[in-house]
Amino acid sequence: MGLLKVLCCLLLVSVYCEAEVLRKEAYMTVPNLIKATGYPIEKHRVTTADGYILQMHRIPAGIRSARRTGDLVAKGKRAILVVHGLMGSSGDFVIMGPGRSLTYLLADAGYDVWLANLRGNMYTSHVSLNRNDKKFWEYSFHEHGKYDLPAMIDKVLNVTGLDKIMYLGHSMGTTTFFTMMSQRPEYNEKLIASVALAPSAYLKNVKPIANLFLNVLNLTNVLKGQGMMSLQPVLMQSMLANVCNLKQPERDLCTTFIFALVGEDYEQYDMDMAPIYLYRIQPASWRQLEHYGKLALTGEFTTFSGGLYGPIKPYNISNVKIPVSLLYGENDQLTVKPQIMRLADELKANGVLEEVRPACSWPKFNHLDFVFAKDVGTLFNQPLVKNIDRIYNKYA
Ligand SMILES: *[C@@H]1O[C@H](CO)[C@@H](O)[C@H](O)[C@H]1NC(C)=O
Ligand SMILES: *[C@@H]1O[C@H](CO)[C@@H](O)[C@H](O)[C@H]1NC(C)=O
Ligand SMILES: *[C@@H]1O[C@H](CO)[C@@H](O)[C@H](O)[C@H]1NC(C)=O
Repeated sequence: MGLLKVLCCLLLVSVYCEAEVLRKEAYMTVPNLIKATGYPIEKHRVTTADGYILQMHRIPAGIRSARRTGDLVAKGKRAILVVHGLMGSSGDFVIMGPGRSLTYLLADAGYDVWLANLRGNMYTSHVSLNRNDKKFWEYSFHEHGKYDLPAMIDKVLNVTGLDKIMYLGHSMGTTTFFTMMSQRPEYNEKLIASVALAPSAYLKNVKPIANLFLNVLNLTNVLKGQGMMSLQPVLMQSMLANVCNLKQPERDLCTTFIFALVGEDYEQYDMDMAPIYLYRIQPASWRQLEHYGKLALTGEFTTFSGGLYGPIKPYNISNVKIPVSLLYGENDQLTVKPQIMRLADELKANGVLEEVRPACSWPKFNHLDFVFAKDVGTLFNQPLVKNIDRIYNKYA
């Protein structure tokens, strides 16, 4: 059913045409988005061991304490690293604005919030490569976990002077966590606990889609053959401007396509924000997509060694030594409950499963609702902040 919809959309999408004018939030940088709200914002540069330069965004204090004390130095506070998903950025956690997006709620609850940017998005450069070099794009979430996260965690510890921080990831931001722990288990010592939203390690359910794109259409190879070095948002942006009609989601094939992938949820679909969120989508490397494809095709949480059709070499989830909380959307079609339960069983066997449960009471909560459901503030993020407090107080 889902797959059929995807196919239909691919074939039919080109017949729809309606231009869309976007609000300025679509084009603003993350620091400017935050600045416009009045919250304090800092930018920090991190260089990874293999030469990528990543920009982190920090909201060191909530709006009240920032105004009252003017003291933006958050020494001794509880710090949390927040990590985005595939084709995302630090913007995922601010785009819905104060009162709704997680960053602002965490900052107001007293957290020193550090927003990660993983290599590949617009907040990335490299000491010697530029974005037109093929080598720049030779990475997947393996390198995000092995190099980017350790560098960013060390940065947070260095700037704050703290011994340990909290970790929170959405989707690929959870894959990177498990990858890091497998490859760099010493980072257990630097984290208090990990909160995983839409945890993405086992993806057997995505096998039909991976098979369609990677084997039947051979899409990554075909596009590589066309000289495209990565999947660029330009494609998505021109679709949005010329093809999609997100204001009429019931009749829009782009929405249907997205819902087929992430789970259908018209009620929590924010018509004002969806085009903005989608316009802000970031590039992905082919290897990132192929690595996820390998997880889907094999059904295992494996490294990319030997390539898409190389041998299965599972990441070692037993290396996770800190408490992990797994929250899933009950209508998430991408990271589905049965696959998450497999991960939960492994974590439980190792004695590190804090909890596994539906993210919230809304039964249609899907993969993207975690960041841009219409009511993401009240429905999900406010209770989430309380839960993070609970976990922090239990283990810090
Ligand atoms: C942070 O890094 C700098 C430069 O490497 C170092 O001199 C300093 O001692 C570090 N601070 C902490 C708190 O680790
Ligand atoms: C996909 O394309 C690559 C490169 O063009 C080619 O070597 C490979 O055989 C193709 N695979 C399939 C399944 O068609
Ligand atoms: C995985 O990690 C655990 C604990 O860290 C270790 O005992 C085990 O030998 C590792 N397994 C593999 C296959 O490396």
